[in-house]
Amino acid sequence: MSSMTESPEMLCWGGNPSRVVIIDDSRLKSAFLAKILMGMFEVSTFTSATEALPRLTDIDPRCILLDLERPGEDGFQTIHDIKSHPGMAHVPLILITATSDAETERRVLASGVADFVGNQFSQEIIRTRVMHQVELYNYRCALEERVREKTRNIEELQDAIMVGFSYLVEQRDLTTSGHAQRTQSYVRCLIRECLERGIYAQELTPELGMAIVRAAPLHDMGKVGVRDAVLNKLSALTSDEFEEMKQHPVFGATAVGRMIDALQDSAFLKVLRNMVLSHHERWDGTGYPLGLHGRSIPLSGRLMAIADVYDALISRRPYKDALTHEQAVLMISEGIGTQFDPILGHIFMECADEFADIAERLRPEKQQEQKEEENPAQ
Ligand SMILES: [Fe+2]
Ligand SMILES: [Fe+2]
Repeated sequence: MSSMTESPEMLCWGGNPSRVVIIDDSRLKSAFLAKILMGMFEVSTFTSATEALPRLTDIDPRCILLDLERPGEDGFQTIHDIKSHPGMAHVPLILITATSDAETERRVLASGVADFVGNQFSQEIIRTRVMHQVELYNYRCALEERVREKTRNIEELQDAIMVGFSYLVEQRDLTTSGHAQRTQSYVRCLIRECLERGIYAQELTPELGMAIVRAAPLHDMGKVGVRDAVLNKLSALTSDEFEEMKQHPVFGATAVGRMIDALQDSAFLKVLRNMVLSHHERWDGTGYPLGLHGRSIPLSGRLMAIADVYDALISRRPYKDALTHEQAVLMISEGIGTQFDPILGHIFMECADEFADIAERLRPEKQQEQKEEENPAQ
């Protein structure tokens, strides 16, 4: 059922009565307002904004009644101060004002307050107006929380799908144990450095960075479309077999493309498709499958290219020995500007030590030991 059918009580914060703050220099008027509202709300009163502001975040009010005309304080400045205070931007403000000329009314409405009443208010009007504002605000908070929860659920679901898919890929590709997890860690390291230094800042938002890291374990998902005889061949591939292997970015991107077609909003899947399709492209345009060049290669593919090659170089394969970390760094440094994005290549050189740590922490033998500890029966 829609949340709008639930009773307001259901939506009160933590099940406590909603808190209301009154800021009025007249203690008499404050006490009168508090008396009207008590029983329905928890009420805190202050005689000035200077006194109230430092307490607002702790009190977490659902509505603030503010006397516009207080000696020594500019009412409109107070509105601005409250709205700029942490967590207060959307808390409804009800102004109490003695002035009812058209200019004040215009300024009050333009200042973003929720409502205003004249000094000659009745108990019922105050109670009803505060109640309406508190109800609306509580609904808004509850809806925002639900949206956050749904977003969390979707992200968890995406992560779970990533984990399941990358497990499937690793079950097929017997030669590259732990590659998905290690390349994800390398990419995370490169993205953190880029964000900290503002590199590719126009393109690389923190949200895109997060999506690229989450997509990383699946960059080779298209390998499930490569025949076992090729994927797990224990010797070097023939040129025909290599041509087949080179199709894995296309297989993977086609699969993600089908998922995208089935969805209305698929920003994350587009990031995944870009990475899956472009991680074997080269900066100089001689890569595959599309022969893209320079910055026309998506950032996710340029990042993964470095992570992928580093991991391939330091890993042993049935047809080749593992290089040392130093040899791998040297080879990547020689490919900067030809195979790899020059800016990202230099970032790699600066955080290469961290790559070595990740490689050590996630090396296949260690992962195997861990698996055996977790499942001693296997
Ligand atoms: Fe690949
Ligand atoms: Fe890979």
